[in-house]
Amino acid sequence: MDEKFYITTSIAYANAQPHMGHAYEAVLTDIIARYKSMRGVSTFFLTGMDEHGDKIVRASQKADMGPQAFVDANGEKFKELFKKFNISYDYFVRTSDKTHHWTGAQTLWGKLSDSGDIYKGVYKGLYCVGCEAFVTEKELVDGKCPHHDAAPEKVEEENYFFRLSKYTEQLKEKITSGELSIIPISRKNEILSFLEGGLEDISFSRPEGVIPWGVPVPGQRGHMMYVWCDALSNYITGLGFGRKDDENFKKFWPADTHVIGKDIVRFHAIIWPAMLLSAGLPLPKNILVHGFITSGGKKMSKSLGNVIDPMGLEDKYGVESLRYFFAREITPFEDGDFTEEHFMETYNANLANGLGNLVSRTIKMAGQYFDGKVSQAIDIDVPLKREFVAVGDSAKIEGYSIPYLIRTKFLPEYYEHMDSFEINKAADVVWQLIGTLDGYIASHEPFKLIKTEKQKTENIIWSLLFGLHYISHMITPVMPDTAKKIEDVLGAVFDDNALPVSFNTKPLDAALFLRK
Ligand code: MSP
Repeated sequence: MDEKFYITTSIAYANAQPHMGHAYEAVLTDIIARYKSMRGVSTFFLTGMDEHGDKIVRASQKADMGPQAFVDANGEKFKELFKKFNISYDYFVRTSDKTHHWTGAQTLWGKLSDSGDIYKGVYKGLYCVGCEAFVTEKELVDGKCPHHDAAPEKVEEENYFFRLSKYTEQLKEKITSGELSIIPISRKNEILSFLEGGLEDISFSRPEGVIPWGVPVPGQRGHMMYVWCDALSNYITGLGFGRKDDENFKKFWPADTHVIGKDIVRFHAIIWPAMLLSAGLPLPKNILVHGFITSGGKKMSKSLGNVIDPMGLEDKYGVESLRYFFAREITPFEDGDFTEEHFMETYNANLANGLGNLVSRTIKMAGQYFDGKVSQAIDIDVPLKREFVAVGDSAKIEGYSIPYLIRTKFLPEYYEHMDSFEINKAADVVWQLIGTLDGYIASHEPFKLIKTEKQKTENIIWSLLFGLHYISHMITPVMPDTAKKIEDVLGAVFDDNALPVSFNTKPLDAALFLRK
């Protein structure tokens, strides 16, 4: 396993309030970050806000505020959302932050310029404010931008350009070889086929008169950086790039994983790596592209009236269950649908009944039969332990002990899925274990056995508690508070190999999840 892990979300536009998509991206990233920390890797998790550009200026004018006051207010809303969703970021980058961000963005510009990759030219074309991007006639439908249903503006202006075209072959090679890995493979193929068409140089600045709100181009009065160097650079400025206090940059760059949505893949898989190549900086290792959260099968939009407010849901159901839903019910690489109905169904089945029930039954039996003190009486390293065969139908666990199954099957499968970012499959493994433990109770009936076979019952309860300890371990990245509650009631005592050998259980104060 690597010694360090640097992971980022994209930085959200500060022009509007946070929505479910932002909550999803932050939770997905947080789960991966918490998993790496749990495995003992030194982890840095960066998130933040994209605060410049004319979308923001226009939104602030509408709100009758100055741009700085406007982004400050929206930034607070994002921070509040992240707090509620238990997002364990290490640093929150803000692109309007002159001290922390501007210096680094300008240093990066300087490096690209030193490489001879920035030149002055005249841009003539169309600009869509909604996309905050120059668009071509080809991309329009009936003369309008298909995403924003608005006609783009005609512009002719002096811009600095970045020599993106120069990097076409190098990018192809890095992506094909996997040095820059784009996950899932369908997105990698999409980028490779885009590269086949060759790349054109891109506008890299805009006149100050057009966008007064941005990072000034260093040494060139009257020009402001266009979104690329302003926003993408956050991934290094957030670590201190370009400043004296750049220890984090030295320790954590290159990024191990940039987590982004499917609409910004080209920016991250083409423009950003090309800028890094030009600056002579190492490339990120993985670009993880998640799908979109839809609502009732449709894109969330105000006009359809299907926008789900993540804060409202959090108030109603609690954050742990929402984090669970994001982790298990949504395949990270595809679009995933959220309806309150489906959410409730899985909440009741898997949290209140599944996990919650197993914990409360087991803890209750440990308390009632053994006063909470349950010790190990079986050898967990013997693979084909048949110590339970005598007490009932062991076919469900094929005669293997629960600890053996955990250590040879559930745990390695869970790690494998987590390591390949297949969070939903990793969560499935946990619920398979929950099912196995439920089946184990059903087939061994400790509640009956206690009347005649105290020692065998203790072995069974011990195995269940052992199982719960590993369930708690495996759900830690997804539901850190629930994991802690479970660990608290288990009261595990560990041996030198960090294996739980005995338990001093405490009664549960309240159900882990109330039925809804
Ligand atoms: N500011 C740019 C990113 C610059 S990164 C240097 C941006 N901001 S955004 O606010 O529009 O989007 C932020 C993230 O949310 C993106 O990764 C985007 O794909 C993601 N999502 C936006 N809507 C989404 C859903 N409905 N579902 C899931 N993620 C979605 O793009």
